[in-house]
Amino acid sequence: MTPPPGLDDLLTLLRFPSVSTNPENRDDVRACATWLMNKLGAIGLSAALHETPGHPVVLARNVHVPGRRTVMIYGHYDVQPPEPLVEWHSPAFEPTIRDGRILCRGATDNKGQLMAHLRGIEETMAASGDLPVNLIFLIEGEEEIGSPNLKPFLEQHREELKCDMVAISDTGMVAPGVGTFTYGLRGIACMEVRVKGPSIDLHSGIFGGAVMNPNTAVARLAATLHDSEGRVAIAGFYDDVLPLQDWERAAWRALGDSSAETLQLTGSPELFGEPGYTDMERRWGRPTAEINGIGGGYQGAGSKTVIPREAMMKLSFRLVPGQEPEKILALVEAHLQAHCPKGVRLEIHRGHAGMPYLMDPHSDFGAAAQRALTQTFGGNIALIREGGSIPIVQAFKDVLGVETLLLGLALPDCQAHAPNENFPVASYEAGVKLNKHLLAELSV
Ligand code: BES
Ligand code: ZN
Repeated sequence: MTPPPGLDDLLTLLRFPSVSTNPENRDDVRACATWLMNKLGAIGLSAALHETPGHPVVLARNVHVPGRRTVMIYGHYDVQPPEPLVEWHSPAFEPTIRDGRILCRGATDNKGQLMAHLRGIEETMAASGDLPVNLIFLIEGEEEIGSPNLKPFLEQHREELKCDMVAISDTGMVAPGVGTFTYGLRGIACMEVRVKGPSIDLHSGIFGGAVMNPNTAVARLAATLHDSEGRVAIAGFYDDVLPLQDWERAAWRALGDSSAETLQLTGSPELFGEPGYTDMERRWGRPTAEINGIGGGYQGAGSKTVIPREAMMKLSFRLVPGQEPEKILALVEAHLQAHCPKGVRLEIHRGHAGMPYLMDPHSDFGAAAQRALTQTFGGNIALIREGGSIPIVQAFKDVLGVETLLLGLALPDCQAHAPNENFPVASYEAGVKLNKHLLAELSV
């Protein structure tokens, strides 16, 4: 099989270990941004690197012609950490093609999808000498850490970033070959809780029975977050939730029952979640509370009779339209304080947050995006929401006043954020076509 044009560029981009959360990768992240800037320049755009307090933003544009639509395309060049490394079948940052899939950290999320945008633009420019639209191509390096510097960047550059809409490929497809339009995303709010007990680690024989063990306290607190059936048990948590609309419940049901696939993809012995909702509704349209990390005390080989002085848990909440991260974090704090066992103190640190997003898939631009999907994939288009978060999307609405078209290419088994993340070469090729159709459809 001859590789499609542009694939070598994707493989080059994938070799940069652009892990935004790890300070050790700072220079790699910058080198990745610089490579992208040079590539965007080489295809005929004017491109620049913009400094932020964190990782740089890459910005490129064609020559803008008055009277044409202005389309912003957004992507991110940063990736999640590759660990645990031993579980990779090939090195995490050495792209390897196996059975038509590119294995590499970032292959799907988001470098493969990003390069489908870039190649679609490159081919259109090569064929016509220009694009049918005014283009702003914005690529950030901090999406995987909550985009802490991008909203201020949008505010500072509001004038030069003025556009009619944003398009992003950083979401999923319901199945291979099924064009998928995502009209909603969950938001996110993160928190770290430290439970402090005695001032030093204690001998559990000498002091056991006389003080509260922070591990017990953290376990008790963790257990208060849900009721036994899986509802979030924090007072007020669901107050602002916009209920799912009838049309979307019907549209999602028409896609079939995803329970068996979710069971297979997750490898869990059984599905478990909020009563009264289907698997898709739970993952796309309902809010959650998750314990992402929990620990304290001795975790080494054998046993150690100790009462640790501290234990911790890392929490994150996926939020749906109507909910506000700051309000939810305040409810969670009040809940934890109210349920904190006697004999320990809580130290609560708020982490990053991002708003949920919801748009009308039948708007003019939504319809244009759906036409581009039909031209690329044929057949019917799946209209879905997604459970993941892209924190900057609601900020595009708030700061620039525009809607975002989410046209994802990730497959259900892409293993994003996990070992052996992969992206089919065929998805890359379809993405290039999609972008060419999209530019044409958005121009009129
Ligand atoms: N591409 C994902 C978002 C996504 C995942 C959308 C799955 C739809 C389906 C994005 O890169 C991502 O992983 N976002 C993070 C954001 C967080 C770290 C602020 C997420 O959702 O965990
Ligand atoms: Zn991601």
